[in-house]
Amino acid sequence: MRSHYCGKLNETLIDQDVTLCGWVHRRRDHGGVIFLDMRDRDGIAQIVVDPDTVDAFATADKVRSEYVLRIKGRIRMRPEGTQNPNMPTGMIEVLAKDVEVLNTAQTPPFQLDDHNKVGEEVRLKYRYIDLRRPDMIEKLRLRSRITHSVRAQLEALGFLDIETPILTRATPEGARDYLVPSRTYAGNFFALPQSPQLFKQLLMVAGVDRYYQIAKCFRDEDLRADRQPEFTQIDLEASFVDEQDIMGMTETMISGLYKEVLGVDFGKFPTMPYSEAIQRFGSDKPDLRIPLELVDVDDLMSSVDFKVFSGPAKDDKGRVAALRVPGGASLSRKEIDAYTKFVGIYGAKGLAWIKVNERAKGIEGLQSPIVKFMEDVVDEVLDRCGAVDGDIVFFGADKSNIVAEAIGALRVKLGEDLNLYTCEWAPLWVIDFPMFEADANGRLSALHHPFTAPSCSPEELKANPETALSRAYDMVINGTELGGGSIRIHDQAMQRTVFEVLGIGEEEAEEKFGFLLDALKFGAPPHGGLAFGLDRLVMLMTGAKTIREVIAFPKTQSAGCMMTDAPGEVSGEQLKELNIRLRQKAKVEEEGQA
Ligand code: AMO
Ligand code: AMP
Repeated sequence: MRSHYCGKLNETLIDQDVTLCGWVHRRRDHGGVIFLDMRDRDGIAQIVVDPDTVDAFATADKVRSEYVLRIKGRIRMRPEGTQNPNMPTGMIEVLAKDVEVLNTAQTPPFQLDDHNKVGEEVRLKYRYIDLRRPDMIEKLRLRSRITHSVRAQLEALGFLDIETPILTRATPEGARDYLVPSRTYAGNFFALPQSPQLFKQLLMVAGVDRYYQIAKCFRDEDLRADRQPEFTQIDLEASFVDEQDIMGMTETMISGLYKEVLGVDFGKFPTMPYSEAIQRFGSDKPDLRIPLELVDVDDLMSSVDFKVFSGPAKDDKGRVAALRVPGGASLSRKEIDAYTKFVGIYGAKGLAWIKVNERAKGIEGLQSPIVKFMEDVVDEVLDRCGAVDGDIVFFGADKSNIVAEAIGALRVKLGEDLNLYTCEWAPLWVIDFPMFEADANGRLSALHHPFTAPSCSPEELKANPETALSRAYDMVINGTELGGGSIRIHDQAMQRTVFEVLGIGEEEAEEKFGFLLDALKFGAPPHGGLAFGLDRLVMLMTGAKTIREVIAFPKTQSAGCMMTDAPGEVSGEQLKELNIRLRQKAKVEEEGQA
């Protein structure tokens, strides 16, 4: 139906006849001449309809926003003074000879240019209209380019694209499962995969050697800007490899992608142990664009006359950390109060601070609600942070994990608010993660997943599970965990030990992962892999604020779909077939009978 895409027209096509198909982006009536901005997937072109072309003019006179048209016409230069060099097609226009309405359109719920004026729910309800916006299409296009490039790179490395089941058993990645009732096994449920983890390991046992998949994953967890209940991984696994092999291949892949798509050169990624990341940045996904660092001052604070600080300073599990913000002395009381409230989200009970107005004046030159308690040590504290006139130093004192989370988050917030970034891109690998983390009751859970190999023997693991490190690695870019993986356990005895440490009894292990334990008996090769979050990758590369912006049909924060109204109710018939009775319904029935 068409000869060209609107957005592809330019000066090289002057005097050519073209046929365009698309939507009316805007219609302007300039006293006798009608201008139509016609839009398709590739961009916008200006169409001029002259009253001389009587039929075309009469049709153009009737069209409205978002009508679907086919236009035949000839390309000409725009008159001097009306050219728009900021627009790809801004030097030319199409003089229409024929205007055909392929379809009419009701007034859309929002004008594309006014998408900011409606709530996100409206945009999600009419997503097919929202996606007409050029910058939304651009994101989908980039996503397609990324998956294409990833496939090409992995195929060239000998990875095979293999699909794994969606109707399966639970994979423990730490989130709640989405369950699907079985009709043929009454009372039993499938779980949608949180990741293809177990299947990709079984493919290694099968001798596939190198597997990849652009895989849909499902996790029923609390949603945030970078989390969706249904998301996509670039998932891969390889046999006879170590950490360096997987990290090397995937680093080359991501660097190649950035170079190809954004022209950015990453160079070699730095590598940082987990413990250092927590110590210096309060996070296992540090944003290294921000030059602020946490500085430990426990030793100096243990003897001060301020229990809020001396308590955690003396406690093995406590921590007192300082964060110097260059130039921060100009923060207002109101701003400091807002930051105090902010750290409260992470469990901090307060946010102490010292403004360094004039260090040469000693205590007099400082302004702070806490300095009176620590006059003896304040100089040393400020020296250790490298504080100079004009700075503010914030303090967090609590259990170590709360301090890391609260001050780590404050660091990122200050970086954003005060625009402290020193570079545009900061990728790194975080390695040497602990095998396990303990909850408040001391119960251990796997920090990555329970198939991750430890760096030690089964005996050492059993003796000191809390300090054992794993062979896991995360790729972090600009403070976002883009991907993570590990070398896996390929030995049955080690796998059983990990289950044991996790308090998963033999019976339970057999029930849940018997098929994996079996497979490990039949010649499992050493193997490892990694999965990237594709949505997060596209979010980072497009500069989108949330992953919803780079998913064609995302779910809302409450895990529903505004457009299709999913999840929805099902008929009594369907429920009966599935042997399911709803509690709510059962209650209503009971009441009805009574
Ligand atoms: P992990 O759970 O770390 O590892 O997930 C890998 C990557 O997937 C992305 N991701 C998400 N993206 C959007 N929404 C979510 N809810 C979400 N959850 C995770 C992140 C994350 O880095 N099987 C292992 C990988 C392996 O060991 O090979 C796994 O799934 O970018
Ligand atoms: P208070 O004596 O409770 O008024 O606290 C004095 C200062 O210490 C205030 O600026 C509080 O915000 C701060 N503060 C209180 N608890 C903590 C804490 N756990 N960590 C850091 N600062 C705190």
